[in-house]
Amino acid sequence: PLANFGNGFPSPLRFTLVSFPITDRVKVIALSCFAGGAAILALILVALWSKRRGRKSKSATGGGNYSYQTLVNATANFSEENRLGSGGCGVVYKGILENKKEIAIKKLARKNLKELEREVSLVAELQHENLVKFLGHCFQDDKMFLVYEYLSSKSLSNYFKGSGDYQKLDWAKWLNIIKGVARGLTYLHLDSGKDIVHRDLKPSNVLLDSNFGAKIADFDLARGYNRERSHESTRNTAGTYGYIAPECYAEGKFSTKSDVYSFGVMVLEIIVGQSINRFENDNCTGLVEHVWQHWSDLRVGDVLDRDHLGLGNHEQMQQASRCVQVALLCVQNDRSRRPAMDEVTYFLSNEMLVPDPSAPGYITAPAGSGPPVCSVNDVTISMTEPRS
Ligand SMILES: *[C@@H]1O[C@H](CO)[C@@H](O)[C@H](O)[C@H]1NC(C)=O
Ligand SMILES: *[C@@H]1O[C@H](CO)[C@@H](O)[C@H](O)[C@H]1NC(C)=O
Ligand SMILES: *[C@@H]1O[C@H](CO)[C@@H](O)[C@H](O)[C@H]1NC(C)=O
Ligand SMILES: *[C@@H]1O[C@H](CO)[C@@H](O)[C@H](O)[C@H]1NC(C)=O
Repeated sequence: PLANFGNGFPSPLRFTLVSFPITDRVKVIALSCFAGGAAILALILVALWSKRRGRKSKSATGGGNYSYQTLVNATANFSEENRLGSGGCGVVYKGILENKKEIAIKKLARKNLKELEREVSLVAELQHENLVKFLGHCFQDDKMFLVYEYLSSKSLSNYFKGSGDYQKLDWAKWLNIIKGVARGLTYLHLDSGKDIVHRDLKPSNVLLDSNFGAKIADFDLARGYNRERSHESTRNTAGTYGYIAPECYAEGKFSTKSDVYSFGVMVLEIIVGQSINRFENDNCTGLVEHVWQHWSDLRVGDVLDRDHLGLGNHEQMQQASRCVQVALLCVQNDRSRRPAMDEVTYFLSNEMLVPDPSAPGYITAPAGSGPPVCSVNDVTISMTEPRS
């Protein structure tokens, strides 16, 4: 007989009942199969159910929920002495909780609360040893704060020449910082499952812990959180002059590959011991151009600041040269040729051959004031909103 599925069309399947004598043995096997299957199914259902419950029982936004009074107590009513500086999204204060734990509190400008809660729940899920740890939030009336772990060793920008706290580290620590930032960025881009583009990676957004381990900061809020948005074009250019990839100036195109560019610039800064925006050499070339020229002339050794990097033996020199080569791959003008961050991590930690970089892209700022001018591929683009 043909089974009819109610929509008027006969099923192509033909159901045939085969009758055969069921022995007791078959019955026992069938029954135990059924019971076993049912038990497994029940276990799976229970597991799924408890997982859902586990997720629900966490706070709706994730992380801790701090009361405003707790933050007022921790910062002596947000006093000037506790003010650490102002980041991309707001003023940052240092606080000490009643249990003596040190925290950093970022005050946000007023924003849509629903959107903020959604973003905070995403940020709360980001946990990696090379990201500054997110501890929680405080949304009370019109006051909005995010709370992070406090790191005592300041940001990487204090370790370059020309900074008040110019400090030297040994090569092992420098290499560890470079690899740490690469791992943190790999996590944001690929391993977090959220395709996060940082958009403003620079030394002042890399904090160092007491062992000089690198932790990326300011990865929260107003970032691209998914693939559709990770290539988004935007008129109001985020990012910081010098670290921002040429295509971000030209087309406002932020992507994981523009973060890779910023990473490359940071590595070059470490190598020469100078910040890109204060970089000086006899030929008046920019940092990227300077390193590229020396690379092309096979004189990489000349760009390494051996004293700043604490370079001693030949092996360390080779590791530093390798870092230069990887950095030049990251700042290539053609963004499709820039490696992904997991490849960068791989290049940095393996003895395998690193490809030869092609020409870098960079923006040259004319001497004196006036907006910096972008001259990539002989196309000159004026920058409308210089930021530093
Ligand atoms: C957080 O705490 C405040 C009061 O301190 C409360 O009004 C709010 O509902 C809490 N939010 C969550 C998500 O628990
Ligand atoms: C804030 O400090 C005051 C006085 O030291 C104390 O009475 C109060 O319990 C503290 N509040 C919180 C939320 O820690
Ligand atoms: C804290 O600061 C605010 C304004 O900055 C002020 O109105 C308030 O009175 C201060 N509270 C205390 C306890 O000093
Ligand atoms: C400046 O450029 C010339 C020619 O390209 C080169 O020989 C020289 O080494 C450069 N000097 C520096 C400090 O880069």
